[in-house]
Amino acid sequence: MIEGKILNFLRKNKDIYISGEMLSEKCGISRVAVWKHIRRLKKMGYVIDAISHKGYRLLRASDKMLPYEIQNNLRTEIFGKEIFFYDSVASTNDTAYALAENGAKEGAVVIAEHQSKGKGRFNRIWISPKQTGIYFSCVLRPKMPLKEVPKITILVAVAVAESISKTTGLNIKIKWPNDVMINDHKVSGILTELKAEQDEVDFVILGLGINVNTPKNVLPSHATSISCENGKPVDRVALMRMILEKIEQYYKEVFKRGHFNDIIKKWKQYSYPMGSKVRINLHHKKIIEGSFHSLSSDGTLLVKLTDGNIKEISAGDVEIVKQKND
Ligand code: BTN
Repeated sequence: MIEGKILNFLRKNKDIYISGEMLSEKCGISRVAVWKHIRRLKKMGYVIDAISHKGYRLLRASDKMLPYEIQNNLRTEIFGKEIFFYDSVASTNDTAYALAENGAKEGAVVIAEHQSKGKGRFNRIWISPKQTGIYFSCVLRPKMPLKEVPKITILVAVAVAESISKTTGLNIKIKWPNDVMINDHKVSGILTELKAEQDEVDFVILGLGINVNTPKNVLPSHATSISCENGKPVDRVALMRMILEKIEQYYKEVFKRGHFNDIIKKWKQYSYPMGSKVRINLHHKKIIEGSFHSLSSDGTLLVKLTDGNIKEISAGDVEIVKQKND
């Protein structure tokens, strides 16, 4: 992409003005074409100073989650090599699903600054206010049987928890299967959808929503944002990059090297403690109670029921029941 080339060049020479002539030579286009691309970059939110007879200078990068920003120094081989950016979509999961049906490659990312119909598990709404959060979906084409798909949610939750913890130093918890929490309030959720034939996965759409700089008053009472807990705004692009890098690392560990046990170990460092009292809504009017026992080798939840039996749960909503001394 020519705009990417122009940007990289301006980025590397941030302290000086680069002439239109130089840019036209470097990119193999006319000076008028350079000017048109600069105008497009400005429209995307880049602040570029232009002085006649001197040239162009990048004063400030765009604060949108643009592919040029995310891909700048992104150390991945699969995830985010192709990024589709939108100011607004209904749901990035739906857009990514349509792209996957049309052959989008593994690792292709759809990212939006706003979603008008952001969705969560069990048909819930994912509130996605403009330019405050991270809302993206990624196309995965793992060669694995259906029963292994829950492993994706587990490894992504670990990648997100670690990235937020590293960025902020805050105490992060994971609530099975897909909630990342700060101070018992939800800050991020994962929604995986898939297309499969018989037992074979065709593709998985991994959707991730994070309340990054979202003001508290637009969020539901059980939710929070990183900046609300941290007291200062967070660089969304840097966080996104870190998450993509970690997802790629753990995805390869699990599905190329078969090391899911290592992910479970990490997961346990962030999970609510073993023995925590839990109430689980299984969504067919059935609620069970017990204590958190462990995670199985496939990523399902093992709960110790009040009669002492262990029950394996593959889908449901977990509520951590607070004890008097908590
Ligand atoms: C949940 O916690 O129930 C899952 C929330 C997932 C939200 C993300 S935002 C990006 C992607 N697009 C969607 O419509 N949903 C996911």
